[in-house]
Amino acid sequence: MRKHSTFVPLSVLNIDPESSVPVYRQLYTGLRNAILNGQLASGTQLPSTRALALDLGFARGTILNAYEQLFAEGYVESEMGGGTYVARELPDELLKTPSIQAFASPQDQSGRSLSQRGIAMASTAYASPYDLSPVRVFRPGLAALDAFPLKIWSQIIARHARQRSYDLLNYGDPAGYKPLRQAIASYLGSVRAVKCDLEQVMIVTGSQQALDLAARVLLDPGDDVLIEDPCYPGAKGAMLGAGAHLIPVPVDKEGLRITSEMVRSATARMAYVTPSHQYPLGVTMSLARRLALLEWARRAKAWILEDDYDSEFRYKGRPLAALQGLDTSGRVIYIGTFSKVLFPALRIGYMVVPPDLVDGFVSARIMIDLHPPTLGQVILTDFLDEGHFGRHIRRMRELYAGRQAGLVSAVAQELKGLLDVSSNEAGMYLIGWLPKGMDDQRASEVAAAFEIEAPPISTFRIEPGNSQDAQGLLLGYAAFSEDEIRIGVQRLAEALRSRT
Ligand SMILES: Cc1ncc(COP(=O)(O)O)c(C=O)c1O
Repeated sequence: MRKHSTFVPLSVLNIDPESSVPVYRQLYTGLRNAILNGQLASGTQLPSTRALALDLGFARGTILNAYEQLFAEGYVESEMGGGTYVARELPDELLKTPSIQAFASPQDQSGRSLSQRGIAMASTAYASPYDLSPVRVFRPGLAALDAFPLKIWSQIIARHARQRSYDLLNYGDPAGYKPLRQAIASYLGSVRAVKCDLEQVMIVTGSQQALDLAARVLLDPGDDVLIEDPCYPGAKGAMLGAGAHLIPVPVDKEGLRITSEMVRSATARMAYVTPSHQYPLGVTMSLARRLALLEWARRAKAWILEDDYDSEFRYKGRPLAALQGLDTSGRVIYIGTFSKVLFPALRIGYMVVPPDLVDGFVSARIMIDLHPPTLGQVILTDFLDEGHFGRHIRRMRELYAGRQAGLVSAVAQELKGLLDVSSNEAGMYLIGWLPKGMDDQRASEVAAAFEIEAPPISTFRIEPGNSQDAQGLLLGYAAFSEDEIRIGVQRLAEALRSRT
């Protein structure tokens, strides 16, 4: 039986208009937590968007956005004749969620609640719980782990095990193992045209730590950050975790749309970009935009975080020079990772920091975890120095190029009129654009029921989307054989047809 609720207790929502977390997101989180912890029971009718907007004093569109998100995720449902109700059957997964859900209520009765920053991080897509479900076809961003030269890697490990060096047991350099930093500096100089010496290279626990570290060391709470929209959720979460205020900037086919007006007004403290291969849209930032962004940073006295997560995989021509190499005023922090080019469990990435910031970054690193674990760095150094890294990249480029071509041709055959995929000269995934009017969240859910893992583009948007936004699915191809890709595309076709 339906239960009526003419109001939602404001204490449940605890919305702070001054917070860096958008109001719609706070409202969504508050309602979601109230549903999960039983304060809003299954079947309870939520107030109309108009009534709640009046009650809370926010625009109706804000309320609508929160409701739409809850609706898309299955927490609420609507009924013929109107009305929004707490879903009768919440997805099992949600009810089993771990402690973070229980703590995410901004004003827990017992006072045991996360900070606003903690809540902001927890509310970022992908944040909690981290997805450890079995890999299904098209998971984006995953390397071909079965093609990794595990035998060589094991031989290097065995060699170090045999040497039994006590040196490897002591505390290490907080900036990272020097020979590894040297190898990375040489690689970046020759392949990515990054200008740096080894003192500027810091080893981090994957690029996620670099994003977090840069945000914490360079931003004060409330600082404005220009961020690509749509955007990599890990970057968004790291910025929110540092208390930043996000200014979403749209991305078009030339990358972040930095206008001359933005350059002139020179606002904000930082910009986050993925210029080599924008995540998730896959475009490369044009030279004109790169120069405009650098000019903006110079005028605004701001920082640019250049996240170069998968630039090794360019299938035509030479890899593009990094934005960092064009910077003449020491405003770019360059970030790279071995997660895509080798394997993610390695948890080794690197950042290149302007020389005058090195001490600040190293001191902060000491406060966080002293230094990266030594053994993985030592093994990786040998892997680089002995030429295995270069060989592996060359092999993977060839493999992935073939897989990408396989994906494009299978989609052209099986999904005509349902999904539009074009080849891309870079990356490990493609975007399948859906026909107008087809909602990507829904399409992704339907695909999941057919064992396909294709996240919707809208998940990565910062500004809540509207029905005019192009809708698409991310299709990772690097980790899947051409056969798996072909069968996956057939299943996806079945899934999308079952909807139309
Ligand atoms: C754009 C982007 N940046 C950073 C990362 C984080 O990678 P890491 O494993 O190095 O933390 C990813 C991983 O998917 C990514 O897609």
